[in-house]
Amino acid sequence: MERHLFVIFGATGDLTKRKLLPALYHLIAEQDHGICVVLGVARSELDDEDFRKMAREALADAGYDADRASAWCDDRLHYQRVASGEDDTALAARIARIEADHDLPGNRVFYLALPPSAFGPTVEALGEVGLVDAPGWVRLVVEKPFGRDLDSARDLNTLVHRVFAEEEVYRIDHYLGKETVQNLLTFRFANTTFESLWNRDRIDQVQITVAESRPVGGRGGYYEQAGAVRDMVQNHLTQVLTLVAMEAPSAFDPVAIRNEKVKVLDSISPIDPGDVVLGQYVTGSLDGQHVAGYRDEEKVDDDSTTPTYAALRLRIENWRWQGVPFLIRTGKALPRRVTQVAVRFKQAPVAFFESMNQPSDLHSDVLLITLQPDEGFELRIDVKKPGERLRLETIPLHFEYGAQFGHIPDAYETLLADVIAGDQTLFVRADEVEASWRLYQPLLDEPPHLEFYAAGSWGPDDADRLLGNGRTWITR
Ligand code: BG6
Repeated sequence: MERHLFVIFGATGDLTKRKLLPALYHLIAEQDHGICVVLGVARSELDDEDFRKMAREALADAGYDADRASAWCDDRLHYQRVASGEDDTALAARIARIEADHDLPGNRVFYLALPPSAFGPTVEALGEVGLVDAPGWVRLVVEKPFGRDLDSARDLNTLVHRVFAEEEVYRIDHYLGKETVQNLLTFRFANTTFESLWNRDRIDQVQITVAESRPVGGRGGYYEQAGAVRDMVQNHLTQVLTLVAMEAPSAFDPVAIRNEKVKVLDSISPIDPGDVVLGQYVTGSLDGQHVAGYRDEEKVDDDSTTPTYAALRLRIENWRWQGVPFLIRTGKALPRRVTQVAVRFKQAPVAFFESMNQPSDLHSDVLLITLQPDEGFELRIDVKKPGERLRLETIPLHFEYGAQFGHIPDAYETLLADVIAGDQTLFVRADEVEASWRLYQPLLDEPPHLEFYAAGSWGPDDADRLLGNGRTWITR
């Protein structure tokens, strides 16, 4: 890895403490990913020593050895306060000084761990004070949300492109950093068995579930402005969908892979409002505990119509997927946390065994890919039950990541390693982010009627209607 300066804007925030510092420390200090000096930038009046103390605490919370972590913090961490436009020149001078002191060649990562309203002004300031004209390479990392609709995403892309080339921009969707999400491509394109079945001839429907048991809690202020479509559907669920549905790329490189993902987005038909169910949780209970309704959360309007649940039926009109519904759903305050892709295969053409099993059960083989937690695969097939004349039982063929490989790295570690290596594969390209907003914009403009569901339930019953006759939502 090339020597570089890693500048974090928003250095005192939660993301920096919980994710960025532990991931950088693990990559750089423990896995020897080269020389990286970190400069934290924020409004708070801290000095280097305060920032190092904050980092030491964050690393201890993440379970790292205090002595080793302490030495790394002392050697590699710096802090610069910026409070107004004028301070940007001071920032530029500080960066030049740190690079000289650490003998860095002028390679710079600028990581915006900031609220969205600060993205634009920070990018402009970087351009104005000349920090982008570095002697080495520069890379801009932008956290989500990238815009709050199609127009704002376009405007932000235009602004970013005034200062950075697209090849220098890394838009984060942390789902792409999850090992199991990346493995979707390996699974599909390294194993011909399933790939040969991966089409409208063999697949009945694909379900993608990102369920969260946590209610919105203290994030009401943010969530009121977002809702399930902006917060989860437009980004995380759509990213998973593109990886499940895309064609094999011409090469395993960022351009070819992202081209194929954009093609999937461009092939999705405009969403029919009848194919959408939006919901909001009301008081209920989860694991025996009372859970307050969304409208009772802090900073949430008493009459809020913000959806905390969304289920959609999408149609990909291309050669491979014509006629195969992609059902995606996500929600807060659901019975448990699980992210899964369930691929339901078509039934046998003649139901020889149906009468001997349960006639009401439309049996299909199901491939269940669990992305988190309990990462793994399960193929559900029927076998004959021993001893009984042609009685069938559905059994799982099961593989668990943890049992095979042990620890799975955190998504941020993977993403930061890729930023440092200059690999954009796992980051969302400008046209991709716009294609995704374009798809959901009509839903944001005219949201369908809101249903209510009890916290601790699987969401509005109406979502079952999207599945089609005899089919149920599949979760393990
Ligand atoms: C974030 C959303 O992007 O993803 C949160 O803003 C959500 O609302 C989170 O809880 C889910 O991420 P993970 O990695 O816990 O599935």
